[in-house]
Amino acid sequence: MKKYFVIGNPIEHSLSPQLHEFWFKKNNLNAFYKKQKLNNIDLSDYILKVRNKEIDGMNVTIPFKKEIISYLDALSAEADKTQSVNTISLSNDKVIGHNTDINGFKFAIKDTKYNATNKKVFILGAGGVVPSIILALIDMNVSNITVTNRTKSKADELKKLFKSIKTVEWGEIPDFDIIINATSLGLKNEEINLDFSKVKNDKFFYDVIYNPNETNFLRNAKIAGNYTENGKKMFIYQAAEAFRIWHGIQPEINEEVFEILG
Ligand code: ATR
Repeated sequence: MKKYFVIGNPIEHSLSPQLHEFWFKKNNLNAFYKKQKLNNIDLSDYILKVRNKEIDGMNVTIPFKKEIISYLDALSAEADKTQSVNTISLSNDKVIGHNTDINGFKFAIKDTKYNATNKKVFILGAGGVVPSIILALIDMNVSNITVTNRTKSKADELKKLFKSIKTVEWGEIPDFDIIINATSLGLKNEEINLDFSKVKNDKFFYDVIYNPNETNFLRNAKIAGNYTENGKKMFIYQAAEAFRIWHGIQPEINEEVFEILG
């Protein structure tokens, strides 16, 4: 039986096991997928298990997407550009780090039919998933990207990877067409302490969070007349690409998949 894990800390919230187990059944694969809470000190052990073929593949989530890189043999071009890994496989006895968040975000935006070309983008947050979103947006030919983060130095760090981005202090709202919440604010129904009252009502508000389905950020934006989208499709598409990397099968994304995620 093949074995897959998602590793992170915290990990309780992850819905990856349900999604992958669903696709295992659909494709008659003899495999299991479990979540595993780890500490930094356990990372090398888990990579060794991949190397020894005790584990067949892993997803990596907060806070290890960058840290895991030093234990790997090689990175895909996308993982290298973002210095972020969310999927690990073994190929020709090499432990490879991939980044499927980038296409996850791209396909999710494509599905919305919103044309991001030449749009001004404002990103809230500078955590694990932000480099992937920035790379995806650059590939989508947006006109410019501004990042704000409570801890501004973390936003400024991103300039090392992406020279074209701008950063502003937390609280400052530049002109934008698309705003993306990539902070953890909203997971527990918190409000984001930013004032959007001067923002016109024709913007696209995107939240990486999908549980709850509608954060206060999205609810308020919708009430104000903006277009909104949560992170559910991004999550599904990143999982589907990981599934394809491991099994060589493109899993079906249907209504049942959406139901699993609630
Ligand atoms: P990590 O930062 O460990 O990669 P993450 O969940 O990917 O974790 O990122 C959390 C994001 O939410 C960060 O951008 C964080 O801002 P800081 O870098 O300043 O910590 C942001 N965040 C969390 N709580 C916040 C709050 N109360 N106000 C504003 N931003 C917050």
